[in-house]
Amino acid sequence: MINVAIDGPAGAGKSTIARAAAKELGFIYVDTGALYRAVGVYCLRKGIVTTDADAIGSVLNEINVELKFIDGVQHVYLNGDDVSTEIRLPEASMAASNVSAIPSVRAFLFDLQRDIAAKNNCIMDGRDIGTVVLPNAQVKIFLTADPEERAMRRFKELEEKGSTVTYQEVLDDLKVRDYNDSHRKIAPLKPADDSVVINTTGNTLEESINMIVETIKEKM
Ligand code: DC
Repeated sequence: MINVAIDGPAGAGKSTIARAAAKELGFIYVDTGALYRAVGVYCLRKGIVTTDADAIGSVLNEINVELKFIDGVQHVYLNGDDVSTEIRLPEASMAASNVSAIPSVRAFLFDLQRDIAAKNNCIMDGRDIGTVVLPNAQVKIFLTADPEERAMRRFKELEEKGSTVTYQEVLDDLKVRDYNDSHRKIAPLKPADDSVVINTTGNTLEESINMIVETIKEKM
């Protein structure tokens, strides 16, 4: 199977770019952030503090997270419920960032990610795909962009969905998540030694998609 790992900070355009590139290459696109988000949503529903490693560790056996691909689109299920929309709420983002720093949560989601990659030609995006989950991926890309540009993209996405959140709130949130994601002890966000680093600041979406598709084709 061909596995492409795309890692990078929140809002770098990973999901949009990876989805389009996967479509062009005929691969499935796997968004691993959705898995952490689903665990975060479970905690929010249960009123569990999302930084409480012991409390979360003790409920992991109550959680079943599944990914299904319907018409090529990924849906994430939490104990049988399709939570694909709910996991995109801003509170789910912060919950996901918090739970993703907990080793037992990462271990819990590890096999699921490995299994999908073993069975499918895929582009998998996340924070530790090239470094931890798929260290043998044939192609590794680290996709990034300046924080202000990433926050502006996120802000516009949320605004389109009718959210009243401000740009400054999105930027502040993103900086906190960047810090959390890259400073945690376990599987911190960082480029794999053998990754191609691509900075999309100032690029149009088309340009970024082309850059990624070309990089993948070259490496394959
Ligand atoms: O990509 P995203 O914004 O949906 O990810 C949500 C959170 O999950 C993010 O703050 C970091 C975490 N995450 C992770 O730690 N490892 C991954 N492979 C994917 C996401």
